Amino acid sequence: MPRNVKASAEKSPAPLMPLADAESAFRRQHPEYGTTLPLDELRVTEYGRLDEGGHVFLDYTAGGLYADSQVRDHAELLRGNVFGNPHSTNPASLAMTERVERVRAFVLEYFGASPDEYEVCFTQNASGALRLVGEAYPFSAGSHYLLTFDNHNSVNGIREFARARQARVTYAPVLPPEMRIDESRLAAWLDEPGDGVANLFAYPAQSNFSGAQHSLEWIERAHDRGWDVLLDAAAFVPTNRLDLGRWLPDFVPISFYKIFGYPTGVGALIARRSALARLHRPWFAGGTITVASVRGDRFFMAEGAQAFEDGTLDYLSLPAVEIGLRHIEQVGLDLIHQRVHCLTGWLLEALLSLRHSDGRPIVRVYGPPDANDRGGTIALNLYDTNGHFIDHRIVEQRANEARISLRTGCFCNPGGGEVALGLSADELTSCFIRSRDHLALDEFRRCIDDKSTGAVRVSLGIVSNFADVYRFVAFVSNFANRTASEA
Ligand SMILES: Cc1ncc(COP(=O)(O)O)c(C=O)c1O
Repeated sequence: MPRNVKASAEKSPAPLMPLADAESAFRRQHPEYGTTLPLDELRVTEYGRLDEGGHVFLDYTAGGLYADSQVRDHAELLRGNVFGNPHSTNPASLAMTERVERVRAFVLEYFGASPDEYEVCFTQNASGALRLVGEAYPFSAGSHYLLTFDNHNSVNGIREFARARQARVTYAPVLPPEMRIDESRLAAWLDEPGDGVANLFAYPAQSNFSGAQHSLEWIERAHDRGWDVLLDAAAFVPTNRLDLGRWLPDFVPISFYKIFGYPTGVGALIARRSALARLHRPWFAGGTITVASVRGDRFFMAEGAQAFEDGTLDYLSLPAVEIGLRHIEQVGLDLIHQRVHCLTGWLLEALLSLRHSDGRPIVRVYGPPDANDRGGTIALNLYDTNGHFIDHRIVEQRANEARISLRTGCFCNPGGGEVALGLSADELTSCFIRSRDHLALDEFRRCIDDKSTGAVRVSLGIVSNFADVYRFVAFVSNFANRTASEA
């Protein structure tokens, strides 16, 4: 139990210490948090709108928050320049081409990636980057697509491309309650001989469901056995350093709005040049070719990143990517990481110590129960005084009323959700068989009957503070001694 949550009384649930006392105790427990205090100042100067409405924002894994200066600097840049569609020789176009290439170079620099080793293809988002890999990866009969249960749907979706080309698809399990990879089984699959065909291993550096961080050491292990590696870094990079000078995954999809909030609509596939060269795109488009002919019925793909950027880029947004990355650098990614780490540790401890009067826990966490090898994303469900789960939609409704922004459901990570919530393949299949082509979410919930079909997710980020996590714990403590119907 954290020292700043009072011991449980016999009949009534433990009252929380007042915020100021709890924060003092927290700071004594985490002296390293002191180094992150400039982030409190940053919250006031750059994210002031957050506190104007008494808002508790706990949805960073879905989308980060932007600083006022990012929007201002971007607007000023647009107002002070004449930017045209890039890739022509007119001055407005040249000015934009120069900017786009500068952003591309800066993305590599930010991730410590050598331009000799890596390329940056701009996409609409991480899903767009994943689709580029899926549709162009040289799967064939005998190939293997190996992925962890814990993956975003846009990584799961690649299995359809793999199957369409007769490749084998295997899911490597993650183990509840901590939601870590089953290492021996994964190692056994990676050890299987590759037979000279293309084999792809895909996993998230950090789970967007449980926050578990899966070891980056798997990249080298898989490479040593001839696999290509797709490292989904979308949920990892907002609060962790990914050093692509040290780790060399072949494909890295990201969405920039998850790192710094603005702009939306831009992501990237950061890919090793050698891996990119092995992809075969299923079509060509404006911008992706050097020459295409109608009468001659031929086309010649452009080299490198250009071959993967269909049509016109969201070119006016791209300078805001550099502004955003420079903002994070200036604030200090290590500082952000440290703060999120400390707050996550306290939040987990406080949540897990909340009890009904009879000693039953109120909270069940799906994922690592402490701050080790995990990020600031926590999936959980609340349980009532009879030990029955409280529907996550009710929790979300109550949180909305308290101006707490959190998220519920499975967060586009069905494998993580099914493992965490104990939904078996048989149960799922029987629901799917009953309902031919269409299955509405509510029908699915009724079919799954007595189990929760989703979880509550809270996630921390750049300007999270102690008051945010304290207010969430206070919110959850209000469920003490309630039955599900009273919630
Ligand atoms: C781990 C992970 N991968 C991929 C995605 C997809 O990102 P986007 O919706 O921006 O394409 C997300 C989004 O939440 C994510 O968390």
